Amino acid sequence: MELRAEIDQTGSPEVIQLKPFTLKSPGPGEVVVRHKAIGVNYTDIYYRNGTYPQASLPGKLGHEAAGFVEAIGQGVSHVKEGDRVVYVVASPGCYSTARVVSADVLLKIPSELDFEMAAGMLLKGMTVSYLFKRVANLQPFHKVLFHAAAGGTGLIAMQWARMMDVEITGTVSSEEKKELAKNYGAANVINYARENFVEQVRDITQGRGVDVVFDSVGASTFYQSIQSLKKYGLMVSYGNASGKVSAFDLGLLSGHLFITRPTLWSYVGTRKELEVTFGELLQLVMLNKIRIPIYQKKPLQDVVTLHKLMEERRTTGCSILTV
Ligand SMILES: NC(=O)c1ccc[n+]([C@@H]2O[C@H](COP(=O)([O-])OP(=O)(O)OC[C@H]3O[C@@H](n4cnc5c(N)ncnc54)[C@H](OP(=O)(O)O)[C@@H]3O)[C@@H](O)[C@H]2O)c1
Repeated sequence: MELRAEIDQTGSPEVIQLKPFTLKSPGPGEVVVRHKAIGVNYTDIYYRNGTYPQASLPGKLGHEAAGFVEAIGQGVSHVKEGDRVVYVVASPGCYSTARVVSADVLLKIPSELDFEMAAGMLLKGMTVSYLFKRVANLQPFHKVLFHAAAGGTGLIAMQWARMMDVEITGTVSSEEKKELAKNYGAANVINYARENFVEQVRDITQGRGVDVVFDSVGASTFYQSIQSLKKYGLMVSYGNASGKVSAFDLGLLSGHLFITRPTLWSYVGTRKELEVTFGELLQLVMLNKIRIPIYQKKPLQDVVTLHKLMEERRTTGCSILTV
């Protein structure tokens, strides 16, 4: 019996229910992927609690999964039955035992990469890649501030910054998370639950501020993040874990600062962009230059518990559901 997570209404983790469903046959250009591991992202919480709208209700959840190609539709040529694949898609629905998706989104994975690693790394790893390389064009002489440094995206970002020789300061909400972010490559870590991070950043940068702030926390950090920038600095607002940023006066940019609100979908929208971004990430993981820290792993049936832990800030690193 096929199972998938559905929500009849948006709200707390308890709105998630696992329901049986009938898997369709793949249409032209489509495939069935039999899921083995599902990546859990903070974005899934936005779709569950209503921060991001569902196309209709009952709604579905989940944007990435890894598994086997089980069936292919007409005209599909770049994958075949039995191939090991991973994929990420904008429309929710990956919290399921299997899914019909467009073959265009599938990326083949080598036998040395297990499904759990593949599902843990794709969305978050490609996010760090596009943020660092394409949005901010980071260089070794840059100093940056990165919020939620001990999270899934955060621990990948700490390693990537160290690899690029960029001085990265992370923020976290506990002393345990501070230690973790340091171990993964942060040059400095600030506990933003206790310390004023604007002051700390001024101290670290001899009063100048940082070149770039990567802010996925949103409402509770937005204004202070902008205050942490140096002249001509760039504010990258790419998430809303504490709530969405409300309308603000552009005068806040003081006549010289830059701001952007990017999404992964805009940076892997073409097959070429997707292949190049994934190809580089895969290589870094296979060469052990980037470690994928999977610190929460639960069966699909425990999805409610995992959502609770994540929302209560009790997770670190990456989280996956297994099938
Ligand atoms: N735009 C994009 O392309 C894109 C792509 C991927 C991810 N994202 C965003 O990046 C962020 C990280 O995603 P992730 O999946 O790797 O999650 P994550 O970092 O593992 O978890 C979210 C973290 O946010 C921090 N946080 C701060 N304020 C919070 C609050 N009020 N409630 C809950 N958590 C709070 C917590 O860390 P502390 O306890 O240390 O504060 C928490 O662990 C999310 O905001 C996500 O939406 C954006």
